[in-house]
Amino acid sequence: MTVTTDTRKQILDAFQFRHATKQFDSSKTVSDEDFAVILEAGRLSPSSYGFEPWKFLVLESQELKEKLWPVAWGAQNSLKGANRFVIVLARKKADTLYSSDYITRIMTEVQGIPTEYAEQKRASFEAFQKKDFDLLESDRALFDWASKQTYIALGNMLTAAALLGIDSCPIEGFNKAAVEEILVNEGILDPEHFGVSVMAGFGYRAVEPYPKTRQSLQEVVQYLK
Ligand SMILES: Cc1cc2nc3c(=O)[nH]c(=O)nc-3n(C[C@H](O)[C@H](O)[C@H](O)COP(=O)(O)O)c2cc1C
Repeated sequence: MTVTTDTRKQILDAFQFRHATKQFDSSKTVSDEDFAVILEAGRLSPSSYGFEPWKFLVLESQELKEKLWPVAWGAQNSLKGANRFVIVLARKKADTLYSSDYITRIMTEVQGIPTEYAEQKRASFEAFQKKDFDLLESDRALFDWASKQTYIALGNMLTAAALLGIDSCPIEGFNKAAVEEILVNEGILDPEHFGVSVMAGFGYRAVEPYPKTRQSLQEVVQYLK
């Protein structure tokens, strides 16, 4: 891959272009081809040990959007105007505990690791979960660890969208328990295995955003020499 001044500019232009879109133009549609790229950016995202503790729900049902509306205050602009809407789920302890069937399946079926090496990887993962990150302290700690990784996928999806000239809004303005209850009642969410992590709307801006505000690079970067 050749990196040129143009590449650098293209990347930074996309980060400048991306903003949390508050008003979408509901008459504009994101093409299937572009949306497929956004989903691929999520799917190809890195995760701790490569365990991909996520699932992406693509919300197309107007009826379900209306049910979520009152319990997802931060999503209302997107539910109304964004052409595509994604609910990102994170896996729970039943799947992310080092000894789970899910972890075994990913190591053997997805990663293609021979059994002997898979057991070594599991032992390393067990030590990481128990000692390094103290993740077995509570079910919530384990869920939040999985959820953190879904935010990497979220970030990649937002950036991929921006590179395609598509606007987006990341969303955690919702009542997690209430959203989960709706999804469970609809038979969409298995609460043993998944919880709601974050959401995102994708579409096209209706108005130009306010100029970006950020701390300076000097304020947020510290070089250790
Ligand atoms: C994890 C996360 C959750 C957010 N939740 C919401 C939300 O629920 N509703 C909303 O309108 N904006 C939401 N935002 C957008 C932020 O307010 C916005 O990214 C921030 O103010 C910086 O502005 P910019 O993204 O336009 O540069 C969220 C952003 C992130 C990263």
